[in-house]
Amino acid sequence: MRLTRRGLLAATASLAAFVPLAGAAGRGPAIHVVKDPNCGCCTAWIDVLRRDGSSVTTEHSLGTLLMQYKLDNGIPQEMTSCHTGRIEGYMIEGHVPTADIRRLLSERPDAVGLAVPGMPYGSPGMGPEDAREAYEVFLIRKDGSTEVFSSYEAA
Ligand code: CU
Ligand code: CU
Repeated sequence: MRLTRRGLLAATASLAAFVPLAGAAGRGPAIHVVKDPNCGCCTAWIDVLRRDGSSVTTEHSLGTLLMQYKLDNGIPQEMTSCHTGRIEGYMIEGHVPTADIRRLLSERPDAVGLAVPGMPYGSPGMGPEDAREAYEVFLIRKDGSTEVFSSYEAA
């Protein structure tokens, strides 16, 4: 069977019509998350990302290996939390809200990525937002310095 020019155009048109549908389904950029297999709050954070439309892949790591992975990828020790994500070349450490990840990807600063150090209560995946404690999201620069990227007040 020969593919005619007309047939090719029709195929291209139907493909183009399909793309906005895929967009409407809310497929965000893919994020790869390295986490302790026994960490429940990591799974809760991943669920938040998936509900927000991100496709998430996971990988298990433990203890000092997981800590080494963070340090090797430019996350200062005082910025560390439980899981470590990577999205479009940026590291996402801990329970970072999806709104901050979106802002990072649209502003594209020259940086390692974002971190919410520790595990603040009421951050995404860490319990109810209406019982939230105050916390900050930090931008990690490539020289290891950090600055406040956004602040969340106590509920
Ligand atoms: Cu956690
Ligand atoms: Cu976690």
